[in-house]
Amino acid sequence: MKRDSLVSLFEHIHPGYVPETSARISFTFCLGGLATTMFLAEILTGALLMLYYYPSISSAYPSVQRIMYFAPYGFVFRNIHYWAGQLLVILVLLHMVRVFLTGSYLPPRQLNWVIGAILLLFVFVEDFTGYLLIWDERALWAWTIARNLTDRIPFFGKEFALVLFGPPDVSDLSLVRLYAWHVLILPAIMFFMMSLHYWKIRREGGISIPL
Ligand code: HEM
Repeated sequence: MKRDSLVSLFEHIHPGYVPETSARISFTFCLGGLATTMFLAEILTGALLMLYYYPSISSAYPSVQRIMYFAPYGFVFRNIHYWAGQLLVILVLLHMVRVFLTGSYLPPRQLNWVIGAILLLFVFVEDFTGYLLIWDERALWAWTIARNLTDRIPFFGKEFALVLFGPPDVSDLSLVRLYAWHVLILPAIMFFMMSLHYWKIRREGGISIPL
């Protein structure tokens, strides 16, 4: 029984049949897989950066400097974290264009297109919160503009801004909240959405075949 479940787990990870046309690199350019790789690189390097980063308005910027000039290989991991984040945005956009051009969003894959679009939104927000964590002048004003814009959304803007950014006046609480979104809440939601994305690919018979 135990062996059977292990075998079926293995079979689940490795699909028995993939049409040759879908497996061709010139069909997907492996853009979704590369985006996943960037996400994993972000988790790994982000966990290392957490060892030195300090989320408070007086210590955030100096702690980033410490990562760059004092932490062993800190500048390497920070640069990988930065560039993998930028690449993730580019790869996901290219992946979306590929899916559109090959008509892979058509039924039965329309829900996976929507899941992907939500993932794209989370990738943008994750990128933006990371940019704010440095807490230099640019981050402070970007935070102020983003908070004010959110605050002005009709009907629920004030409540929404409070949930996303915390109280209107900048304090340590603002950075702790940003930090929580960036390192925990958003990555956890993204991990869940990616799992759903992969599961839907399997459920819909694997990657689409060329039109
Ligand atoms: C973090 C973001 C994303 C990751 C990691 C990801 C990952 C993947 C992977 C690995 C595949 C398998 C085929 C391939 O590699 O091209 C795939 C397929 C697919 N993705 Fe994404 N994706 C993401 C975002 C998106 C976005 C933004 C959209 C569209 C709005 C989207 C829509 C789809 C659809 C419809 C398929 C099925 C395509 C087919 O069967 O040919 N995905 N995704």
